[in-house]
Amino acid sequence: MTETGSTVGEAPLLEVDKLCFGYQGAIAVNNLSLRVARCEAIALLGANGAGKSTTGKLLAGILQPQQGAIRFAGEDVTAFASSRMVDRGVTLVPEGRHVFPRLSVLENLQMGAYAARGKARYAENLARVFELFPRVAERQRQLAGSMSGGEQQMVAIARGLMSDPQLLILDEPSLGLMPKMVDHLFELIGKVLETGVSLILVEQNAYRALEVVQRAYVLEKGQVTIEGAGRELLSNETVRKSFLGL
Ligand SMILES: Nc1ncnc2c1ncn2[C@@H]1O[C@H](COP(=O)(O)OP(=O)(O)O)[C@@H](O)[C@H]1O
Ligand SMILES: [Mg+2]
Repeated sequence: MTETGSTVGEAPLLEVDKLCFGYQGAIAVNNLSLRVARCEAIALLGANGAGKSTTGKLLAGILQPQQGAIRFAGEDVTAFASSRMVDRGVTLVPEGRHVFPRLSVLENLQMGAYAARGKARYAENLARVFELFPRVAERQRQLAGSMSGGEQQMVAIARGLMSDPQLLILDEPSLGLMPKMVDHLFELIGKVLETGVSLILVEQNAYRALEVVQRAYVLEKGQVTIEGAGRELLSNETVRKSFLGL
């Protein structure tokens, strides 16, 4: 076994090599390299403005890198747009959830299955999502906009799963939720991981994130400054001071 948890010789599911991106010249992601193995969960940690969301958007094809390369499942996907990334099995659940408030919960889930991949396995994915999120199943006829923040986050994750991802990217899923809801959310993320999906978790809540992931990367000014196993980082001095308040 290598440190990624993958067997020697097996290529990582996602390989990101020296990615660069700037907004009108202001560098947001700088020479960023990372990898995710099949069935592995990693966290991206870092202060506000460190480049976490930009990285998520680059990996999901919402933004195109200005330099560097992205390989997914052995294919060069560097220049792929988001629709092609969804078809390959990479889905981003963006920061701020963005459910369609005037559509029902079920209609939101259907929107997640619009691409070929999700359409092909619609019934199975809906059953899986309802099993993982019983509350979403109960509320399927309700307008998504009428649900609480925590419930909307579940709808957003469930909608992401409806695209049948191999790699799910969750950007700040616990942001703004009440503590009890945060507990519930992390429990659910654990259950989602048991289904075999790989995960990139962007989190402010470093402590909770490091408990559910195998490895994590700390970003500062668009660069990876610390990388390690989740448990190791919980005892890393810089991580403890900067992100855990210890
Ligand atoms: N749409 C945008 N236009 C211009 N600058 C942006 C935009 N989005 C993010 N930035 C800048 O890029 C940097 C990285 O932002 P972001 O990726 O959102 O960081 P994080 O998610 O870690 O808070 C920050 O300096 C931020 O101000
Ligand atoms: Mg962000």
